[in-house]
Amino acid sequence: MASPVDGIHLGDIESTKDVKIPKEPIDRIIGQDHAINKVKSAIKQRRNLLLVGPPGIGKSMVAQALALNMSKPTQEIRVLHNPENPEKPILEMINKEELNKELKTHSIRGFIVSVREVPSFVAEQLGCRCISCGEISDISEDICLKCGTNKYSKVSWGKRNTPFGDIITEIFEIGTIRPQREVRTTKIGRDGRETIVVYQYVGEGQIRVMDQSDFGDIKETEDKKQMKIIIPIDRFPFVHATGASETELLGDVRHDPYGSHPEIGTPAYKRVIPGAIHEAHEGVLFIDELPHMEYLQSYILTAMQEKKFSITGRNPHSAGASVKVNDVPCDFIFVGACNIEDIGKILPPLRSRILGNGYEILLETDMEDNEKNRCRLLQFIAQEIERDGRIPHASREGAGMIIKEAMRRAFDLDGKRNRLTLRLRDLGGVLRLAGDLAIIDASELIEADHVKNSIKDSKPIEHQIRERYGSMWEGAQRDRSVQFKQNKGDKGYL
Ligand SMILES: Nc1ncnc2c1ncn2[C@@H]1O[C@H](COP(=O)(O)OP(=O)(O)OP(=O)(O)O)[C@@H](O)[C@H]1O
Ligand SMILES: [Mg+2]
Repeated sequence: MASPVDGIHLGDIESTKDVKIPKEPIDRIIGQDHAINKVKSAIKQRRNLLLVGPPGIGKSMVAQALALNMSKPTQEIRVLHNPENPEKPILEMINKEELNKELKTHSIRGFIVSVREVPSFVAEQLGCRCISCGEISDISEDICLKCGTNKYSKVSWGKRNTPFGDIITEIFEIGTIRPQREVRTTKIGRDGRETIVVYQYVGEGQIRVMDQSDFGDIKETEDKKQMKIIIPIDRFPFVHATGASETELLGDVRHDPYGSHPEIGTPAYKRVIPGAIHEAHEGVLFIDELPHMEYLQSYILTAMQEKKFSITGRNPHSAGASVKVNDVPCDFIFVGACNIEDIGKILPPLRSRILGNGYEILLETDMEDNEKNRCRLLQFIAQEIERDGRIPHASREGAGMIIKEAMRRAFDLDGKRNRLTLRLRDLGGVLRLAGDLAIIDASELIEADHVKNSIKDSKPIEHQIRERYGSMWEGAQRDRSVQFKQNKGDKGYL
C-alpha cells in the first residue's frame, strides 16, 4: 500500500493502479469511522439511523454498506386469489426451503437429464456452468472452483448507481445473469415447426426438460394457483425511497376499468403493487432529504412500529380502492438522511423513534491531514477510477495534486487548516474531469497538469461569476441590464 510522506510525495506507488481496493463495502467509506462503528451496531442490534451532513460526504454509501452487511432475505411474499372474497386477496409468506420443495414437486412431466446434456447457454443461465471456463458446478456455488470466476459477476448491475456495484452481485446473487429457476427456448421439431422447450433445475446437477405439451400442463397449474409474487426472495434489500410518492412508499392497487370482470377484467390480486416499505422488508429503507417527505413521515413511523402495513388502492375514485391486502410485512431498518438546517423539519415522533431505537450521527466534512488519511484518499482515487471504468489511473504526481486539492478545499469550504476534505463527491468530479482530459491527450495516466486544468474547469458557477464580474451582485446586475437593452431593441442603456 502507498505511503505518502512529506507533503505530497506518495511513497512507493507508480500510479493508483498499485493501490489495493478493499473488498468489504464498509472499508470503502473514507473518513467516517464514527458512522461506521454505529453501522456495525445497527446491523447487529437492528437499529435505525439518522445521518446528518452536507451533500456528497457518503450518507448514501453508509446506508448501502449497511444493507450489504445484512443477511440475505429469507422470505418471498405473495398474494393469492381469494375465491370467497376476491377483493381481499390472501397473503402468503414462503421461506427458501418451502420454495425449493415447491419447485421439485411442481413439475412431474418431462424427462430428467444431467447438466452436461443441456445446451451450454442453458446451463449458464441456470447457474450450473462457469461463464468463463465452462466448468460444471452446483448453482449454490457462486465462485467457479476451477478458475475462480464469479459465475454471476459478469453483470454490471447497478455499477453506475452504486459504489458497490461489483460486490452487490456477489453478495445478493442478483443481476441479469443469476440462477434462474427455468430457461425457456425454442427448437425446430421433426415436423419443421418451432416448439417451446423448458429447462428446469431440479437440484443435484439434474435438469428437467419439457416440451410444449408438458409445459402447458404446468402453466395450467400455475394459473390454477392464481398468485402474484410481490416481493421475490432473491432481492437486494436496499430500497432508496427518496422523494417517493404516497403510492410508491406504501403500495397501491391498480385501477381496472372493467372492475375485475371475470372475462375482460384483471383480477384484484394481480393488481396489487407493493410499496418501498414492503420491498425493504428484511433490509434497509433509505430516505435522503427526509423532511421533504412531509406528511408521509407519519406513515413511515407507523410502518416502523407495526412492522406490517396493509396495501390498498390509494385513489378513492379507482376500482383499486375496494381491494385490500391486510398486514403485509415491512420489517426494515430505517436510515434517514438530511442536512443540518433541515433537522427541525423531521417529525418529532419519528426522531424520537430513531433515537429510542437507534442513532443520530453527524457525519464528518473533513479529516486530519496525516499519512494514514492521505493513504485513504489514495484509496478513494483508485476506487473512483475503477468504478468509473472509462478513465485511466492517476500517476503519483496526479494523485498528489488531488490530495493537495483536498487540503485546499478543507480550508476554503470549511475554514480548516491541516485537514483533508471529505466532500468527496465533488472531489470525485475533479478526478473524472482530469481523467477525460487525460483521454483527450491520449495520456496513459492522469498527470498533475490534467488535475490542475480540471480544477480550473470544474469551478462552481458562483466562482466563475465572481471571477468574471467581481461579485454575484454585479453579475446579476449585468445580466439584467443586458436583458433590458434587448427589450429596448438595443437602444437602451447599459
Ligand atoms: N466518505 C466517502 N468515502 C468514499 N467515497 C465517498 C465518500 N463520500 C462520498 N463519496 C463518493 O461520492 C459519491 C456520493 O456519495 P453519497 O451519495 O454517499 O453522498 P451523500 O452524502 O449521500 O450525498 P447527498 O446528500 O447528495 O445524497 C459516492 O458514490 C462516492 O463515489
Ligand atoms: Mg445520497
